[in-house]
Amino acid sequence: MCDLVCFNPTCRARYAITDVLYNCTKCGGLLEADYKIDADPLELKKLFRERRMNNAPLDSSGVWRYRELFPFLDDYAYVTTLREGNTPLLRAPRAAEYGGLERIEFKHQGFNPTGSFKDNGMTCGVAQARRLGKRRVACVSTGNTSASMAAYAAAAGIEALIFLPHGNISFGKLAQALEYGARTLEVEANFDQILALVRILAEQLGIYLLNSINPFRIEGQKSIIFELLDQRDWHAPDWIVLPGGNLGNVSAFGKALREARALGLIDRIPRLAVVQAEGAAPFYDFVAQGGEFHPVEKPETLATAIRIGDPVSWPKALHEVRSSCGVVEKVTEQEIADAKAQIGRCGIGCEPASAATLAGIRKLTGRGIIDRGADVVAVLTGNLLKDPDYIYKYHTDQLEAPGGVRIRSTFGNKPVVVPNDPDRIAELLRV
Ligand code: F0G
Repeated sequence: MCDLVCFNPTCRARYAITDVLYNCTKCGGLLEADYKIDADPLELKKLFRERRMNNAPLDSSGVWRYRELFPFLDDYAYVTTLREGNTPLLRAPRAAEYGGLERIEFKHQGFNPTGSFKDNGMTCGVAQARRLGKRRVACVSTGNTSASMAAYAAAAGIEALIFLPHGNISFGKLAQALEYGARTLEVEANFDQILALVRILAEQLGIYLLNSINPFRIEGQKSIIFELLDQRDWHAPDWIVLPGGNLGNVSAFGKALREARALGLIDRIPRLAVVQAEGAAPFYDFVAQGGEFHPVEKPETLATAIRIGDPVSWPKALHEVRSSCGVVEKVTEQEIADAKAQIGRCGIGCEPASAATLAGIRKLTGRGIIDRGADVVAVLTGNLLKDPDYIYKYHTDQLEAPGGVRIRSTFGNKPVVVPNDPDRIAELLRV
């Protein structure tokens, strides 16, 4: 059995897995893929490990290797893989110390083919698009989804239509979309406004929508958790920390953890900590204050990947944070910038949104919510090279937060201009 089901617990309407739907037609709720998976956990662990040694494309993908855990396809010929996933789990003692921890591991999704975690979900979304016979796919994006969709659509031979908030995405990401051949429209509106626009266009033009509202993207992003657990020999950590924007990733992580627990792959569920940027923190406010969910009308952050004021997946995210006894934190622009530089000093590096994790951990250990001795995995969602402009400005003391406040270059590392003169350079390097 494999269906689309309404996520709203009072509705739970069911639809065929091949229905082209993004919301429940009865109540408007979010949809999720629902399966009955009946497998021996020990056999599965053995199978996943054996596949790592196999050169077959599906098995060497760090997503499709775990395909028994998201069995929505009836034919794997629909899959386009760029060998996504296979991202490392890295120890970082210096970052641990900065975060107030004895140890930390970074699950670095920036090692993906297009440099972000979006590839894990996109390979599944594009497979479903092909299965449905779609010739055009579309998304609105703060940059990474569009880069990923452009690459997978190009590899699959289907047309990619990309809608971006004009002037508010990093050049690294925009450049990827152009290079992969996507039709790219820069709209004079913010992410939330463009998502509403794209939903209308998708309906009118019959284009398949590949934002994280698409349940198959969420299925693919579950593999980030499966791979992370596999790399830890299925020992669940105490905490998994991630940045929150449109809240698709936390929805995927929570679902993966619940399903892994139900199957007996792990014996407990780690606590999820979602970190938002202060200027785009509607989910933080909602969880802290209770009551109704209020979107932030004009979200602002230099971490443009998470510059989202009206995250579509908040009902799922709330469920996952609650069912994992999780927390939501928010961090300032300065905190993100400094944490990012610290991750860089570990020889690892990441894009600004990803560094919200370490900034959030520092706050949560400071407040005694995460213990110093806790076993923590933080997910770095995007590659360092996605946003080089931000990095250069930080290190040369030119970075300004929205509103014009200067970010201190606390851990700055300015390049030094020198004359072409060995004596003067030697003199400089002696001190
Ligand atoms: N980190 C990075 C690097 C991202 O690109 C995103 C989202 C997030 C974190 C937040 O993840 O939305 O699942 O909560 N980027 C989207 C995009 C919105 O269009 O690329 P989320």
